[in-house]
Amino acid sequence: MAELRFQVEPGGELRGRHRVPGDKSISHRAIIFGALAEGLTQVSGFLEGEDCLATMNAFRAMGVRVDGPEDGRVTVHGVGRDGLRKPRGPLDMGNSGTAMRLMAGLLAGQPFDSRLTGDASLTLRPMRRVTDPLQAMGARLQTGTRGTPPLSLSGTVELRGIDYAMPVASAQVKSCLLLAGVYARGRTCVTEPAPTRDHTERMMKAFGYPIERSEGRVCLVGGGVFSATRVEVPSDISSAAFFLVGASIASGSDLTLRHVGINPTRTGVIDVLRAMGADIEVLDPRTVGGEPVAELRVRPARLRGIDVPTELVPLAIDEFPAIFVAAACAEGRTRVTGAAELRVKETDRIQVMADGLAVLGVRVTPTRDGIVIDGGEISGGEVDSRGDHRIAMAFAMAGLRASAPVQIRDCRNVNTSFPGFAALAGSAGLGIRELRNGD
Ligand code: S3P
Repeated sequence: MAELRFQVEPGGELRGRHRVPGDKSISHRAIIFGALAEGLTQVSGFLEGEDCLATMNAFRAMGVRVDGPEDGRVTVHGVGRDGLRKPRGPLDMGNSGTAMRLMAGLLAGQPFDSRLTGDASLTLRPMRRVTDPLQAMGARLQTGTRGTPPLSLSGTVELRGIDYAMPVASAQVKSCLLLAGVYARGRTCVTEPAPTRDHTERMMKAFGYPIERSEGRVCLVGGGVFSATRVEVPSDISSAAFFLVGASIASGSDLTLRHVGINPTRTGVIDVLRAMGADIEVLDPRTVGGEPVAELRVRPARLRGIDVPTELVPLAIDEFPAIFVAAACAEGRTRVTGAAELRVKETDRIQVMADGLAVLGVRVTPTRDGIVIDGGEISGGEVDSRGDHRIAMAFAMAGLRASAPVQIRDCRNVNTSFPGFAALAGSAGLGIRELRNGD
């Protein structure tokens, strides 16, 4: 397939009122719980990105009728908790770690065999974090070499509930085990070492499945029923993050992002940027379908380097590529620690960001579990996103402060989370063009 590159002209400002696409985490879960529910689930604001489409196609392959997406509207014809059918072939989760890990939990409890595959990036990502506790529940499954995909799952008669203390703060692991717990005998409890996104818990509640939550712990009893509901997906704060950074670093900007999800387990990026001096206003906060949303108004500010508090790391985990760009434009030094998870995302985000920032003349030192960035001038140059959607979008925003054009390689996967990014960023004022091989 032809390579897609972004060419970003230096300078510019971001202005206007814009709405970024729907939340990826919530969109995956809307399909999953809609499929397991009794009745019709209507979803609006669904993210029509490749990751969520992979989840949707997996359920279609298991006999679930899904209408759409059309303008973010999807109707899921739920088949009930025990209504999934054996898929004919492997289920391809594409680039999506969330899809693979959540589906592993769900499939572990099915009476039929299945196989989960993914693209070159997903095939390198660690799966033992889910397969170890699933095996402890009685699941019969196998990973590829080194604990990576593909995953092969054998139909299981019965899983046993587990009381599991997660060694890493991961919403994907938590959600995987809760999904398996739905099919397990007895009670499943998951304890997290630090707060992680709680969309699974909120959505289970919205679908009428009883769960118990206390600080850092969630429990459920298997065998419950999901009842169809409406899901209104807010805009993804992880996609908004690029614009929060862009408008903060580009003088003359004044940008409002509409209807952004501000679930407190996701707003670490606002806290980190504000600690750096960013001017972000949260306007008109309200709750829509069990999730808090608001308008975010951003104006430029003089950013300063900070030591990012480690407790904010899981609450901003996907936003670090954008935060690193903010740090590169800040006065002084920014240090991130306790973020080793960044090394096992779609790419090793510490190394790939460090490589790209160095190309742009930024003084940067990657560490085992974080990075040290000395803010200053940004030059132009050609950086490689290595197929990582968030790295591509973060470097696009760096163009706003660069002294010469920034070219970003391997941007096709931006479609996994933010279809239409270049068009939206362009309409807000970024001088971005998409180039295909040969342009
Ligand atoms: C997600 C959880 C996070 C995040 C990912 C989406 C989810 O992963 O990085 O993009 O939807 O549960 P971890 O929970 O593994 O940190």
